Amino acid sequence: MCLGRRRCHMNNKKPKTLRSASWFGSDDKNGFMYRSWMKNQGIPEHHFQNKPVIGICNTWSELTPCNGHLRELAQRVKNGIREAGGIPVEFPVFSNGESNLRPSAMLTRNLAAMDTEEAIRGNPIDGVVLLVGCDKTTPALLMGAASCDLPTIVVTGGPMLNGKHKGKDVGSGTLVWELHQEYKAGNISLAAFMNAEADMSRSTGTCNTMGTASTMACMVETLGVSLPHNATIPAVDSRRQVLAHMSGMRIVDMVKEDLTLSKILSRDAFINAIKVNAAIGGSTNAVIHLKAIAGRIGVELSLDDWRHGYTVPTIVNLKPSGQYLMEDFYYAGGLPAVLRQLFEHDLLSKNTLTVNAASLWDNVKEAPCYNQEVIMSLENPLVENGGIRVLRGNLAPRGAVIKPSAASAHLMQHRGKAVVFESFDDYNARIGDPELDIDENSIMVLKNCGPKGYPGMAEVGNMGLPPKLLKKGIKDMVRISDARMSGTAFGTVVLHVAPEAQALGPLAAVQNGDMIALDTYAGTLQLEISDQELQARLAKLATVKSIPVNGGYLSLFKEHVLQADEGCDFDFLVGCRGAEIPAHSH
Ligand code: FES
Repeated sequence: MCLGRRRCHMNNKKPKTLRSASWFGSDDKNGFMYRSWMKNQGIPEHHFQNKPVIGICNTWSELTPCNGHLRELAQRVKNGIREAGGIPVEFPVFSNGESNLRPSAMLTRNLAAMDTEEAIRGNPIDGVVLLVGCDKTTPALLMGAASCDLPTIVVTGGPMLNGKHKGKDVGSGTLVWELHQEYKAGNISLAAFMNAEADMSRSTGTCNTMGTASTMACMVETLGVSLPHNATIPAVDSRRQVLAHMSGMRIVDMVKEDLTLSKILSRDAFINAIKVNAAIGGSTNAVIHLKAIAGRIGVELSLDDWRHGYTVPTIVNLKPSGQYLMEDFYYAGGLPAVLRQLFEHDLLSKNTLTVNAASLWDNVKEAPCYNQEVIMSLENPLVENGGIRVLRGNLAPRGAVIKPSAASAHLMQHRGKAVVFESFDDYNARIGDPELDIDENSIMVLKNCGPKGYPGMAEVGNMGLPPKLLKKGIKDMVRISDARMSGTAFGTVVLHVAPEAQALGPLAAVQNGDMIALDTYAGTLQLEISDQELQARLAKLATVKSIPVNGGYLSLFKEHVLQADEGCDFDFLVGCRGAEIPAHSH
């Protein structure tokens, strides 16, 4: 396994002074204070003498089960840092656990990003290792680190082993959606549904499908901010520990080379990531997170840049779009095998740099593929045009997205009558009603679940179908909302409609019985009413009902969160502020 041990030939000089020296390097009152308190941890004097101090920013938490093993992984990182002559200092930041946090882990992504940014900038750190895993932890920490722009490397916790249920491989999340649908259709008992719980989650690690965690891990590897194979090595595989060790060694050299994030996170790197997202059948959540990360480092990236991925075929045959799981993906060659194929078909830019100071192309140009059922060829792909599509029209003037590889071919162009749910509560209250006026050609519309409307933009866009239609064997319908969708979910689901209903976007004006036309191929989403009628309806909607906010972080969130097309960052957090500390008091 190549973990990329190349030395930098471009910038192999020592920085003049380590950043940490402004804390620990002076023989005066301040130096005394900074060193003295650190010495209560048993740190010897010679450790303060011009050795790179490496922060290990850890999202370990027992409430984030996907990251529950990160303290052990941190020990491996520390071993590597020490071997390379650095001083490791581990510190915690807010941990967004997707499975437990209410109302949505997305609500606190920006909180974790703020925490990370301030913890990095305010402390005596020369370089940073970001220990991440569960969905939001990856973008949150990378956003915060990007706003500081120190040498930074990402180590992901790695995916869980394949789930095993009744002799079959089953995927995290995806199994829940499948079995719940079967249960609601009356095909399996409640006991049979509940019995699958333990079968799905067999080891430490993140979701083993191509959900948001795996997608973001692949985005990180493509962007160049991790060592090769970081995305796919299973959490419990000993090679994950080796990768953590090597990352610890590498960050010390990155400090010496002054290889900062802004030298790696170029616009070309982001466009590569968009194309790779198509090739892996990645999560729609990447649209929001990549925009937010780009915004922090000062790279221009718009929703329309997703057109670069339209014609890229999906070749990674993983659930929810395909058949296999992350463990299989690693054994088949991992992301490097996918990247190599895309490079060899001139689909990716060769101009991007990675943390090991080699280009992405150099890292993967000899990467083998061991299984063409898991990593298919571009000539015989899983989905011909796999990239996430951006839709526009009078229903989504600032855009919406759909994931073709998770959608049904017969619904990609569809015209139907709207069945409107004013909120997720309204949906829950009425979806089981046998009298609900809905059939398989209807279009389900869910409002007030956007960034402000359901603060945090919950993953409810793939709302379950009405039980009465499930019992008829209907498996998919067109669904439209301003919400997000779990990366493990599937269906013909239009998401991220912007502006959202709560911000009085046109979605707020849709009424039961309105005709809506979706054309995924043409990239359009039209509400078939006149402009005049649309404006008249919006004018009547002076206020739209939302979840009441009673101060605290929620108030900050609602006031400052940007719309989905802008990455849902806070308006005041966009941009790189560097690692300079404003005036300090000692
Ligand atoms: Fe944490 Fe899926 S719930 S990675």
